[in-house]
Amino acid sequence: MRILVTSDLHMEVTGHHTIHRLVAGMEREEPDLVVIAGDLGNPLHMYEQCLACFSTLPCTVAVLPGNHDLWASNGQTSRQLYEKMLPEATRQSGMHWLEDVPLVLENGIAVAGGIGWYDYSARDPQLDQSDDDIAECKPRYAMDASKIDWAWTDQEFAATCRHRLQRQLLRLEEDEEVNQVLVVTHVPIFESQIERRPEDQDWSKGTPYFGHLTLGESLRGFPKLRYVVSGHTHVGLNGVVNRPGQVPIGSAVVGSDYGRPRWVTVEM
Ligand SMILES: [Fe+2]
Ligand SMILES: [Fe+2]
Repeated sequence: MRILVTSDLHMEVTGHHTIHRLVAGMEREEPDLVVIAGDLGNPLHMYEQCLACFSTLPCTVAVLPGNHDLWASNGQTSRQLYEKMLPEATRQSGMHWLEDVPLVLENGIAVAGGIGWYDYSARDPQLDQSDDDIAECKPRYAMDASKIDWAWTDQEFAATCRHRLQRQLLRLEEDEEVNQVLVVTHVPIFESQIERRPEDQDWSKGTPYFGHLTLGESLRGFPKLRYVVSGHTHVGLNGVVNRPGQVPIGSAVVGSDYGRPRWVTVEM
């Protein structure tokens, strides 16, 4: 089974032409499934235009949101976008909203996923920053600080995302028809997905908003979990998560950047 995962297409910057070219390239790979792992486009009509670029694909397309897709605009709050507008737009395009329900494919393969969010667990331990320090510095490193308008703290929303994905994986572990699970998140969840640049203090101060390692820790014990692909950082990385006595988990980050979209191929 060939699954292609793309992410961070940012339609408002990247444009139709480049995304159409990406989709044509993906179609030539004859995928069984395509997953779009967030940051499709903002505001909402850009998100919808990004979805439309994928409508010609003959395979199932699954979608989860990124932080940019949730930026409040045109009178729509982040919470309305997350709970109502984005799932509706995705379903109306005939695509699967992965945030709510995993996909069970043929041959015992399942795909679960979600935005994941960041809870500051990817902070650089050398910098000795408290949660309060990181929350206070956020406007300098992440525009979410002014563009996400819900009242939840990052830790609260991240915990909601974590608990949902844990419950989904628990159910897939119990499902006798499922043998292997691919998890796709917008925000990276394993250390092998985080690029560290110890010589670059500005980069290091940004990493708290790059990852949700607590989520990775909570999933790494699930035996059926074989592969994790994420987006968000715009830095392509391939890695392995070793776990004693169990099959290792492959990890990747899609190396898309503004105007330069990419995908990752997963064969399961
Ligand atoms: Fe992005
Ligand atoms: Fe992002």
